[in-house]
Amino acid sequence: MPAQIHLCPTCRRILPPSPRCSRCGGALDVGPPEAFVGQSVDGYRLERILGAGAMGAVYMARREGDAQPVALKLMVPDDDDEATIKRFLQEAQLSRELRHPNVVEVYRCAASEWGTPYYTMELLRGRSLREELREHPRGFPQEQVLRHVGQIAAGLLFAHQHGVVHRDLKPENVFLVEGPDGPQDKILDFGLAKTVIRPRQTRLTRSGILIGTPNYIAPEQVVNNDLGPHTDQYALALIAVELYTGKKVRQDHTVAQIVMQDVQRPLAEDLFLGTDVPLPARAALIRATQPQPAERFPDVGAFARALEGRGSPAAQVAVPATVAGIVPFATRRWWLALLMALGIAGAVAAFLLLR
Ligand SMILES: Nc1ncnc2c1ncn2[C@@H]1O[C@H](COP(=O)(O)OP(=O)(O)OP(=O)(O)O)[C@@H](O)[C@H]1O
Ligand SMILES: [Mg+2]
Repeated sequence: MPAQIHLCPTCRRILPPSPRCSRCGGALDVGPPEAFVGQSVDGYRLERILGAGAMGAVYMARREGDAQPVALKLMVPDDDDEATIKRFLQEAQLSRELRHPNVVEVYRCAASEWGTPYYTMELLRGRSLREELREHPRGFPQEQVLRHVGQIAAGLLFAHQHGVVHRDLKPENVFLVEGPDGPQDKILDFGLAKTVIRPRQTRLTRSGILIGTPNYIAPEQVVNNDLGPHTDQYALALIAVELYTGKKVRQDHTVAQIVMQDVQRPLAEDLFLGTDVPLPARAALIRATQPQPAERFPDVGAFARALEGRGSPAAQVAVPATVAGIVPFATRRWWLALLMALGIAGAVAAFLLLR
């Protein structure tokens, strides 16, 4: 659903959704992102729209005198706070330093004269993994799953080694292009999500955690905003299941459902019933979705290798042998149970308070 853009015609600023401009008090114009085609952002002319997500819109854009167009993502602001925009730009600088065949190249991150941050990146020709999945409702053959996961893991591992976490890995943020050696996965929106931008229909808690349609979010991200390479590993495992089976693991679960269920147990084994997902891959997926980050693989590379049947999928973690993979709560140590119960209560309380 493309975000609507709220624009003050007097101040010529894009503003957070509200009826009136916070500066001049005038009424705001509201329009689809397409309405910006033909306008200029910091010297880039927006030539056509490539798509829009919850956080903004992506355009094909060109700077005067440049032969090659770029992709420009114009972020829709969550609030007018200049400090948070500054923080976003500082964090975004990190993503500019990531140069890897499986990560989209970001050229420039800046605040535009429209009062919103934007960034430019290489213009990719191809389509997203989400679009590809739509055409494969029963999933992909094993070798294609491994190719996608292997490439995404390579890009993630590189970023993790450079101190950058994606934070919003999902099939919409993986783009498929024809590379010099065949099909190539490119990760988009690296570390750029969530700093200042609040997707529509979602909420941000005071600790900065995003609450919305969290289909790929790791449970610790919900409970205590614990972000790290382990959260990207969790998201990649959910994507891998979708690639194998064609089905989303979470069918638009609410945050409360995630909190109640996924902090207690990894993927349910019945997800694999009637599928031909190999046993070592199932064990790897269960380990990568353990509620405790320390029980997952040490890094996404180890996860990708275990998925292929290389490495040790179960390692120190016993794969749950219970019906439907549900780990009985009583088998966990009592203090772990207490901590989790407190975490759940806290997250649910925060969620209810901030609705
Ligand atoms: N560098 C790029 N080159 C070509 N197309 C791109 C590029 N970056 C993004 N797109 C396309 O633009 C569209 C919108 O991307 P955008 O990131 O705004 O949406 P999203 O990923 O669905 O949601 P979110 O805002 O949560 O990231 C996507 O369909 C994507 O395929
Ligand atoms: Mg995106």
